[in-house]
Amino acid sequence: MIKVEGLTKRYARKVAVDNISFEVEKGQIVGFLGPNGAGKTTTMRVLTCFLPPTSGSAQVAGFDVLEHPMEVKKRIGYLPETPPLYPEMEVHEYLEFVGRIKGVPSGDLARRLAEVSEACAVSDVSKTLIGKLSKGYRQRVGLAQAIIHNPDVLILDEPTAGLDPHQIIETRDLIKGLAERGKHTIILSTHILPEVEQTCERVIIINKGKLVATDTVENLTSRLRGAETVAVEIVAGDGALNAAAVQARLEQVAGVSRVLPKEQGESKLHFMVESLEGRHIRPGLAKAVVDAGWNLNELHAVGLSLEEIFLQLTSSPEDAKQEEAIAATASEPAAAETVGENK
Ligand SMILES: Nc1ncnc2c1ncn2[C@@H]1O[C@H](COP(=O)(O)OP(=O)(O)O)[C@@H](O)[C@H]1O
Ligand SMILES: [Mg+2]
Repeated sequence: MIKVEGLTKRYARKVAVDNISFEVEKGQIVGFLGPNGAGKTTTMRVLTCFLPPTSGSAQVAGFDVLEHPMEVKKRIGYLPETPPLYPEMEVHEYLEFVGRIKGVPSGDLARRLAEVSEACAVSDVSKTLIGKLSKGYRQRVGLAQAIIHNPDVLILDEPTAGLDPHQIIETRDLIKGLAERGKHTIILSTHILPEVEQTCERVIIINKGKLVATDTVENLTSRLRGAETVAVEIVAGDGALNAAAVQARLEQVAGVSRVLPKEQGESKLHFMVESLEGRHIRPGLAKAVVDAGWNLNELHAVGLSLEEIFLQLTSSPEDAKQEEAIAATASEPAAAETVGENK
């Protein structure tokens, strides 16, 4: 349904989107995830024919955005970051107006209005001035205008940004509802992860204009779980513990790639131990600790959340080194908290 090949968009000197390629199949709901400035909005504006690509191509339903923009626009509903609403219009007036602009035949307009008002839960405010609506309701009207011409593809730019938690849930449910009706292929952009985990089947991650991953949410999680991280806590028996000696011993265990010291007290040591890819290190770690005569207080695998994966994918090696340095010197409560969250 959507095919992007080698797409590059340059603004003056800045390369906002750098040679990205991806495809989205019909009926899918895909999360376009990346930190602020990653190039999400730019990509969406190219897909919706608002901006021409510098190079590469983008197709919607087989139509190229440069060669057949009218065909593309017919098939796309777009909700920009700021919905194009007219505060002085009543909701039904506005939706009718947009419907006409988008070429909905007059005979179908009343029916379409009723359908989208129901789908986007705005029937109860049809006579209200848009300017008087809450932000949540405005977003729903924004969605309604995006689907009024029943487009195959919906492009939603940060649809929940700026909404309160309650409105976020409502909007997510609404988007999921639109996807479930099976009529639309949806791409939604976001810079926050729960959005993707809760709404999307697939995720496309971009960072600094480059595509860094595209996969199902599940695969992405398990792929990056190939290497495991194990939290180890050792408590002192009779004698005091030597943190450096313990660390050195853990580093020798087969399959271990690195050992990060965490909370370190006199009678208790805490480490995060990372394995090489595909290696199970828990039995070896347990044996090493017990053989050395230390007391093993805790040993468990720490799952990677999508959040950590996202950070892994979107931080450069220099960032990672810095983070490591910070983590290594982090205050004890903070380190303990991190572990607790991942249990
Ligand atoms: N009109 C513009 N002129 C110049 N640079 C722009 C323009 N729009 C966006 N950019 C730059 O392009 C990059 C990508 O921006 P954008 O696509 O808005 O990212 P995102 O939506 O992921 O936050 C950013 O570095 C941004 O500053
Ligand atoms: Mg944006």
